[in-house]
Amino acid sequence: MDSLLSQPQTTRMNPPEDLRARLTVQGGVWQMLPDIAVKALAMARDPNCSIKEFASVVERDPKLATEILRITNSAFYGARNPIMNLKQAVTRLGFAHCRNVILAASLGSAMRKLKLSEAWMQLLLWRHSVLTGMLAMSLNRRFNLGFIGEEFTAGLIHDVGRSLFAIIAPEDFAKADPLDFIEGPGVLQQEHEILRTDHCELGAWFIAQNKLPEALVEVVLMHHEPAKATEHRKLVATIAVADHMANYLQSNGSADEYDAQENPAIEVLFEASPGNVLACCTEARLLMSETMCEANSANGPFSMS
Ligand SMILES: [Fe+2]
Ligand SMILES: [Fe+2]
Repeated sequence: MDSLLSQPQTTRMNPPEDLRARLTVQGGVWQMLPDIAVKALAMARDPNCSIKEFASVVERDPKLATEILRITNSAFYGARNPIMNLKQAVTRLGFAHCRNVILAASLGSAMRKLKLSEAWMQLLLWRHSVLTGMLAMSLNRRFNLGFIGEEFTAGLIHDVGRSLFAIIAPEDFAKADPLDFIEGPGVLQQEHEILRTDHCELGAWFIAQNKLPEALVEVVLMHHEPAKATEHRKLVATIAVADHMANYLQSNGSADEYDAQENPAIEVLFEASPGNVLACCTEARLLMSETMCEANSANGPFSMS
C-alpha cells in the first residue's frame, strides 16, 4: 500500500534559480503547513503517541480541528455516524488515516490561501484540485485500491505548480496555460518553452522543500507520465486517471461523451488486473457523473470558504 508516512528524499527537481527565489521568503521557502499540523503529523508517526496527547495538540489549532471534523463527517468521506471530536476521529480512523486527513485539511486551506491575481483562475484551479481528489476517492472505493485518504490529498495537491506559476510569473503562465483543461501531449513542452520548467517540476520541488511526504512529491512530479512512476506508481496512476476525468468534466461540463479508452493511465493503474481495465472503461461515465454531482452539492467541497 502506498503510504504518506515516509519523508521525501533528494529528488531530481531543479527549477530555475530565479523562480525558486520568488518562492522564498526570509531565506526559506514558503511554508504550506501550519506549525500545529507539522507537530501533529510528527506525533502521528510515533507508535507510542497516545490518542489523548495527539488530540490535545491538534485542538490547539481550532481551525484545523474543525476542518478535520468537517472532512471526516462529510457525506463523501463515508462517515455513517457523526464523529463529534478528534479523539473519536482518531479511534475510528486510526493514526495513519488521521494523518492523511490532517494533510488534506492543511493543504486544502493553504491552497485556498494562495492568492492568485485573478479570482477566476483561483476558483478553476481549486475546483480542479477538489474534483481530482474526489474522483481518486471514488476510484479507490470502487476498485478497492487500498488507500486510506492519501488519494484525496494527492488529488488536491497534484497541480500545485500551476497555482505557484500563476502567483510568481502570472504573465508567462497566462501564455503557457489557458486553463481550458484540454491537455494534449505537448502541455509540458509548451510550459518549458515559456517558463523554462513545467508545473510538475516546480510543484514537486516546492512540496519537497516543504518536507511533504515522498509519495506526494512523486505524484506532483509524475502525474503526466504515470508509466514512468516507480515507488508510488499506484498512487501516481490513480491521480493520473482522476486528472484525465476531471479535465474532461471541466472542459465539457458532463461525462456524457467521455471515452475512457483515451485515458492512458487506466492501463497503468490496472496493469496487474486487466479485468479492471474493462470495468473502469465501462463504468467511467457513471463514476464521473456521480462524483461531479457530489462535488456540486450545497456546502460541498468546492466551497472556497
Ligand atoms: Fe498537471
Ligand atoms: Fe490536473
